[in-house]
Amino acid sequence: MAYRWTNDLTHDDVTPKAAFLNRRQIIAGLAAGSVAGSLAPQFASAQEALEPNSFEDITNYCNFYEFGTRKDDPARNAHMLTTSPWSIQIDGMVDTPGEYTFEDIMAKMTIEERIYRFRCVEAWSMVVPWNGFELADLLNLAGVQSGAKYVAFETALRKDEMPGTRFPVLDWPYVEGLRLDEAMHPLTLMATGIYGQDMPKQNGAPIRLVVPWKYGFKSIKSIVRITLTDDEPPTSWNKANGREYGFYSNVNPNVDHPRWSQATERKIGGGLFAKRIPTLMFNGYEEEVASLYEGMDLAEFY
Ligand code: MTE
Repeated sequence: MAYRWTNDLTHDDVTPKAAFLNRRQIIAGLAAGSVAGSLAPQFASAQEALEPNSFEDITNYCNFYEFGTRKDDPARNAHMLTTSPWSIQIDGMVDTPGEYTFEDIMAKMTIEERIYRFRCVEAWSMVVPWNGFELADLLNLAGVQSGAKYVAFETALRKDEMPGTRFPVLDWPYVEGLRLDEAMHPLTLMATGIYGQDMPKQNGAPIRLVVPWKYGFKSIKSIVRITLTDDEPPTSWNKANGREYGFYSNVNPNVDHPRWSQATERKIGGGLFAKRIPTLMFNGYEEEVASLYEGMDLAEFY
């Protein structure tokens, strides 16, 4: 990768009076006029829409079907998951395949804080201060071989610790995938915590993926295996319902979900009267990632 993504936020920006997600994004939005203009009547200010959600919101409104399908099930059930010891098997087209222990990974990676917008396909959104490291750094540690084109991810599957997996809601274990260039992009994070703390279990402890320009379901949690491959890997939601959930899963307000519009979203925590806000192309990261999809019909590759 030619550049590393640089965070222009410090921890002081996050707590307690966090203001901005990404100044460049806001400035771009203001320049375009549309974002600030359409936010103004609905939120007190554009800043309010970009303020990090509270720790309580982030840890109590979760999708982690291994612990149940209701939003509050993971907060109630995820304590059952044993997260130490933990290791990730990295295999496939890498120079150094093997079991990488969580401690060893953490010792070799540079942990930093990144505040990212998070958009769910169900049209809710949050702003989350993650701590983590670039996935590219982990993949480079294992040494990606030249023929590799995709990265496949797998969540732990432990029927005794994950009550939701006793039901065939999804084809367990939960799996996800990225194209190699998406995986190597400096925005793509292996997150190991939020708000400067270790990752809460309901949010995917000890380590999960965050791809800020894609819908939340790409954010595979509690990862135990990463495989480099030359074939597009299967993904859980695509297997469950391919018509509604494609491999790419880019946030795209111009392509409707078959059952609802993707054009707007509601920020969690805004209270009962929170108005909908316009959803931005690539979740606001268009400047950084649009070039990855140049020449692709995003209605076909959704
Ligand atoms: N990972 C696993 N293993 N199991 C899941 O059910 N749900 C996905 C994703 N990762 C899911 C998962 C979905 S649909 C979303 S929206 C995000 O996790 C939610 O992440 P959060 O709970 O931290 O907000």
